Amino acid sequence: MHIYIVYAHPSDQSFTYAALGEFTRGLADAGHTFEVGDLYRMNFAPLLDPAQYRREMDYDAGAPLPGDVQAEHAKIEKAEGLAFVYPVWWGDCPAILKGWFDRVWCYGYIYELDDSGKFVPLLGRIKKALALCAMGDAPEFSEAHGIIASMRRIMLTNRLASAGIPATDLVILGGMTRADEALRRRNLQEAYRQGRDF
Ligand SMILES: Cc1cc2nc3c(=O)[nH]c(=O)nc-3n(C[C@H](O)[C@H](O)[C@H](O)COP(=O)(O)O)c2cc1C
Repeated sequence: MHIYIVYAHPSDQSFTYAALGEFTRGLADAGHTFEVGDLYRMNFAPLLDPAQYRREMDYDAGAPLPGDVQAEHAKIEKAEGLAFVYPVWWGDCPAILKGWFDRVWCYGYIYELDDSGKFVPLLGRIKKALALCAMGDAPEFSEAHGIIASMRRIMLTNRLASAGIPATDLVILGGMTRADEALRRRNLQEAYRQGRDF
């Protein structure tokens, strides 16, 4: 299938960048095609402006959308799968990716309200969405503190499943603060496997 990968990290010296490389290598080996939206390189504007804020609050699907938001929709239109590759920063994604959701995940594209005010998801044709997250803390620590459960709820339930995407998952590549070479290698193997088995 064709997958649109939204990638959010400022440095190509990072573990997250290496994980993106392994993930895409796995996708290619499995015969998938993909496009990477590198939000920092695109200089993606993350802030919802007053006009689009008004559009969301008025549930006004007919109001015009900014060109860069339309461009993201065009990339999603070409895809059957979505992936989000990012580091965990303060228990969630980097601000630039949060802003991508604020602006791209908009009314009339992700969901609409029917005549009785019922929420109707609109992205059910996307078969699968995966969040692949590099994390500093060991997963056991974050699990014990409820951080991973909270990330899953926000990313999978609030953002992805509410768009109607039937299969969603969030995978943690953990322990990357002061990780030794063996753990780094294991996490990169997992990133590759997530691509190959997408
Ligand atoms: C601003 C910032 C906030 C961070 N917050 C967390 C956090 O809440 N939990 C965590 O486990 N790691 C946190 N980290 C560590 C990152 O998850 C770490 O960067 C990640 O393992 C990826 O490594 P990389 O930057 O080499 O790709 C944070 C790092 C930064 C720069």
